[in-house]
Amino acid sequence: MFFVANHSPHLLAAKAGFQRALRGWFRAHARALPWRESPSPYKTVVSEFMLQQTQVKTVLPYLARWLVELPDFAALAAAPEERVLKLWEGLGYYSRARNLHRLAKEIVARGGVLPRTPEAWRELPGVGPYTAAAVTSIAFGARAACVDGNVVRILARLTADGTEFRDSASAAKVFAPLADALLPAEDPGAHNEAMMELGATVCLKSKSLCSVCPVRSFCAAAAHGEPESFPRLAPKQTERREVVRVWCVRRGALLLHQASAGAKRLAGQHELPTAVQAGLADATVMRGELLARRKRSITRFAITETIFRATPPRGKLGDGLAWVPLAKLGDITLSGPHRRWVEEVLRATSRSVEAS
Ligand code: ADE
Repeated sequence: MFFVANHSPHLLAAKAGFQRALRGWFRAHARALPWRESPSPYKTVVSEFMLQQTQVKTVLPYLARWLVELPDFAALAAAPEERVLKLWEGLGYYSRARNLHRLAKEIVARGGVLPRTPEAWRELPGVGPYTAAAVTSIAFGARAACVDGNVVRILARLTADGTEFRDSASAAKVFAPLADALLPAEDPGAHNEAMMELGATVCLKSKSLCSVCPVRSFCAAAAHGEPESFPRLAPKQTERREVVRVWCVRRGALLLHQASAGAKRLAGQHELPTAVQAGLADATVMRGELLARRKRSITRFAITETIFRATPPRGKLGDGLAWVPLAKLGDITLSGPHRRWVEEVLRATSRSVEAS
């Protein structure tokens, strides 16, 4: 509460006006999103899991497909894990899908009774403070504030707080008491969603749309100019990585590596094997034909991935490796970028694949 008392007295004094302005704007401007139309706790839970680390526009087609096939906790609990992962394919961070699956089984084991407090939700698989607050405030009207990167940005600007934070997560801890203090007693879920909406559509990271902001008159950063300079986050330390992968095709089958079920990011997903996974040395593989070079970022790593045609390893395959018939690639779960790369390489090499 030290932070709240010292940094935001004007904002807290004007709290009722702030809440009213935000709610009025949200009523008029909220995007029509599927979890807002005929909402249910199940839709809220699934959408909040999908929205962890993923943007709304990416989530929409996944959620639509998911709700048709797995319309409630019982259907999800009864689904085979492979099917759950397949429906998640391309969203990334597959441990979210596995946790959601485990959560549904847990709910069914409890006779379908849903916990109603953030504390109880946090005991369920994959539920952190943000998701617990989002689910319980939106689905049950619990008084719990959501603080994610969007909300941090809004609060840092409202208070023009110039503290340099290590990252958004540590800033979230500091701003949590202010977020709590600003939460209304009436419909805290709508307030939380309004904050998320403001962060996603108005209080943008690099180009804040202050001229259309409903709470501009409460905002210290807008008054001082340069709202985009808040929050101040320490520059990210990126690290470069090179990953050498192999493209081995034999008798119409492609060599793939399946991550273990417990792997956090990939959880059971298939990928083109790295040279090391295939039991080959990078240097040997790199003497072969280069089929593709792709760049991507995963957390703080800037990764260059190269895919070389390679001679299949001899003898028994190493852990996680399997030959998957090209005709069956549609049936397995390939991680998002690998699905794209495999299709690209197949298109580019179709003649040589047919010949092999
Ligand atoms: N991001 C996370 N949860 C969200 C929600 N309920 N609405 C919009 N964006 C979100």
